[in-house]
Amino acid sequence: MIQLFHVWKHYAKRPALSDITLQVEKGEFVLLMGPSGAGKTTLLKLLFCAERADDGQILIQGKNVARIKPSGVPYLRRTMGFVFQDFRLLQKKTVFDNVALPLLVQGLSSFDIRRKASEALKAVGLEHRKESRPAMLSAGEQQRACIARAIVNSPLILLADEPTGNMDPDLAADIMDLFKTINARGTTLVIATHNRQVVEQVNRRVVTLAEGRLASDVGARQ
Ligand SMILES: Nc1ncnc2c1ncn2[C@@H]1O[C@H](COP(=O)(O)OP(=O)(O)OP(=O)(O)O)[C@@H](O)[C@H]1O
Ligand SMILES: [Mg+2]
Repeated sequence: MIQLFHVWKHYAKRPALSDITLQVEKGEFVLLMGPSGAGKTTLLKLLFCAERADDGQILIQGKNVARIKPSGVPYLRRTMGFVFQDFRLLQKKTVFDNVALPLLVQGLSSFDIRRKASEALKAVGLEHRKESRPAMLSAGEQQRACIARAIVNSPLILLADEPTGNMDPDLAADIMDLFKTINARGTTLVIATHNRQVVEQVNRRVVTLAEGRLASDVGARQ
């Protein structure tokens, strides 16, 4: 599903990622760990084609992303969902409209938009808040709305960057349960997190980066 071969990424001549080789199979749930500055966000950005690798190869669903033209990137992204910290909800739109936006952009019929957006809101337990503005929601509800927006397309791959950042432990556990449910439906997940409690709870493969290198890759406890 996701394959990296000797991938390098530099910022101002300093390597943010050094020689990363990694494979993620369809349906896997991978936690990406490592200290601040280790390269987690950079790796997710490469997978989402928000940045390009300087060297090496990245295949997503068998496609070499370096060969995808800028005009083709939106098509690849339709098969992916992402929950990034700097990608917030639009404050002037309702929760429903925020979640429906990716579908609107694709030109789906209003019937399909309504059906899919409602399904995604139901999956995250936010149907009752669909007419609210984001500012009226708690931090956890806003995060769930972001997740609903990320899964509204039924993505094959879901990427999330610190989705439980600034959350209390109970809320973080709820969000991770939600990711587990999404994974159980067949979506491949790659989630960057600092949260050790989350890692214990989820008990899935943990890939650790340190100073841009792959430091360890450990499967789930049996
Ligand atoms: N746009 C950028 N321009 C310059 N340097 C960058 C840029 N983005 C990241 N870096 C550098 O690349 C390295 C890896 O950063 P990255 O954001 O991937 O780390 P991270 O593991 O996500 O850290 P954190 O846990 O703090 O989010 C860091 O040294 C950072 O300073
Ligand atoms: Mg980061």
